[in-house]
Amino acid sequence: MSNNEIIPQYDIVRQDYSPEEKIILGEIRENLVDLAISSGENFQPNEEKLLNDIRNFLFLRLSGENQDIPVSRKYLDNLSHRILRDIIGYGKIDSLIQDDELEEIMINGIDKPIFVYHRQHGMMKTNIEFSDERELMDLIDSIARQINRRIDQESPILDGRLTDGSRINATIPPVSADGPSLTIRKFKKDPFTIIDLINSKTISVELAAFLWLCFDGLGVKSANAIISGGTSSGKTTTLNALCSFINPKERIITIEDTLELQIPHEHVIRMETRPANVENKGELTMNDLVKNSLRQRPDRIIVGEVRADEAITLFTALNTGHSGFGTLHSNDARETITRLTNDPMSVPEIMIQAIDFIIMQNRIYTPSGVSYRRISEVAEVVGIEEGVVQLNKIFQWNPETDRIDNVSITSKTLSQIASLSGKSLSEIHKEIENRKLVLKHMVDYDIRSVGDVKSVLDLYYADSEKVLNRIMLNG
Ligand SMILES: Nc1ncnc2c1ncn2[C@@H]1O[C@H](COP(=O)(O)OP(=O)(O)O)[C@@H](O)[C@H]1O
Ligand SMILES: [Mg+2]
Repeated sequence: MSNNEIIPQYDIVRQDYSPEEKIILGEIRENLVDLAISSGENFQPNEEKLLNDIRNFLFLRLSGENQDIPVSRKYLDNLSHRILRDIIGYGKIDSLIQDDELEEIMINGIDKPIFVYHRQHGMMKTNIEFSDERELMDLIDSIARQINRRIDQESPILDGRLTDGSRINATIPPVSADGPSLTIRKFKKDPFTIIDLINSKTISVELAAFLWLCFDGLGVKSANAIISGGTSSGKTTTLNALCSFINPKERIITIEDTLELQIPHEHVIRMETRPANVENKGELTMNDLVKNSLRQRPDRIIVGEVRADEAITLFTALNTGHSGFGTLHSNDARETITRLTNDPMSVPEIMIQAIDFIIMQNRIYTPSGVSYRRISEVAEVVGIEEGVVQLNKIFQWNPETDRIDNVSITSKTLSQIASLSGKSLSEIHKEIENRKLVLKHMVDYDIRSVGDVKSVLDLYYADSEKVLNRIMLNG
């Protein structure tokens, strides 16, 4: 990585094929085409089997010609993997697609370097580019085929999701002037958990423990929340991480335009909207799915991104005793309310009271182009006065100290949980302290993967005493 340029370089080392290897690659491709033709339309190569077949083919082919030179196992493994990626992968950009450190891959056209957004280093330029429009079009076409869509003069924009969960957007000329473009928002294979967000200071332990208690509600009142923020501020990521706090007994229904949420709970139905087909039929909107979810006996409805008329359906559900979460695009808590109550969402003010918290997520850019994300504010909806929704700020991020401070001594939600569960407020605060211990323990012992965090939380839900005793013994 060189630092003297405005946009740093991200160099990909690519191993080129030797002339002999190229010939073999051609032969393997031909064999595969034969196989695909003979097995008809449903040809779906099994990755593991294909790798094995390639390896066997290579072994026979290479050891057949040079009987006395043994083929090294390492070479065989390496070459068979490279060939497999070339055949079923994404060609030139395959290594970028496989790279979990990249957030985004951006191809702006022909003869231009491919850009990437790196999780640590921010925007970077790679040493890869497409110089042949055909090659780039082939890639975009194969992506379109993979997701059963097409891109052509008639519909020159393609927006969709790859099988690995990444979101893609492609455009072709004349819509994009300098040739085809392709933008890939990569799906993180190993998702950020609440412990990762604590480690990266997106959320504090204290705030996490507070929200855990409110979302669980001790079984008497599980709080609702909207996570708000700008584009790519990390709303969905925060929502996803916070969902681990949901009581494992709850039945959850998630509704999204493109599947992004990965909730580790057992009792989940994932729903995805569907665009209209070529005859303009069969569309299923967010609102259709939210309405339908009410017949699916949900405890909690999670709407990936609240944008239009589904808002009112969601708020009706919240006002009739369901719990819910959603994300929404806005810049501050007040604007969140303004957007919800105005066209096209048009939720009546009186219904807004069904949300307990507005959680603001912020992406802060540094001059070097690297960014970090913080929960900048948590506001509680406390009521409505003369038609104006009243907010009580409970947590606020301080940019000078980079801490998320608790700025309110009271919380309506905590008082409600206390009175409904017959506990005193100090007992509720003690419970938050206990949960802080559990979260801190996970931070200290690097218990961070989705599965590991879920195990600890499940254990806590089953027998909190036992978990606390174990932590005490260790600490
Ligand atoms: N707290 C965070 N720390 C680091 N990276 C994050 C964080 N939150 C999100 N990201 C990354 O930022 C990108 C956009 O996040 P996402 O949650 O989809 O944003 P939004 O829903 O606000 O558009 C993703 O690649 C994600 O992995
Ligand atoms: Mg999102």
